[in-house]
Amino acid sequence: MFLTRLIYASTITEHFNPSSLEEIIEKAALNNEKNNVTGMLCFNRKYFLQCIEGSRTDVNKTYNKILNDKRHTEIILLDYREINAREFSNWSMGYVPTSRLSAQINLKFSGSSEFSPYKISGASAYMMMLELKNSLPTV
Ligand SMILES: Cc1cc2nc3c(=O)[nH]c(=O)nc-3n(C[C@H](O)[C@H](O)[C@H](O)COP(=O)(O)O)c2cc1C
Repeated sequence: MFLTRLIYASTITEHFNPSSLEEIIEKAALNNEKNNVTGMLCFNRKYFLQCIEGSRTDVNKTYNKILNDKRHTEIILLDYREINAREFSNWSMGYVPTSRLSAQINLKFSGSSEFSPYKISGASAYMMMLELKNSLPTV
């Protein structure tokens, strides 16, 4: 079964409440572990940037569920490709909080010091997450 990687950006909606983030992370960890899906989720209180990797079927099934989630909107696919190996195999869903999305890292991968996932290329988003994974604990 082909390995694939998918990267998208999205924006929270009025359905996103204070407990939503924890619920999303818990559910993602549970489901992804079951489905051998791995990846990383970045969040800055307004935008999400997520990378999902796994078998083509599992990545597509997961993305379809994510697309129908009312807690976010403006879901834009940044990259989708076949890959030879996972890069986030230590995380069923690694979480990167705002505090780690520093001005320095945003400037390195985008035209702005703000976290603006809609304004970066899929390749830059991927490179940024590769750099962020070095600062994350494994689970
Ligand atoms: C930003 C965001 C990221 C999400 N990431 C995942 C994920 O990686 N895996 C997953 O199973 N669900 C994820 N979800 C939750 C799904 O949208 C959906 O609620 C969940 O998969 C439903 O699981 P269930 O079919 O077991 O009820 C995410 C939701 C949001 C808003």
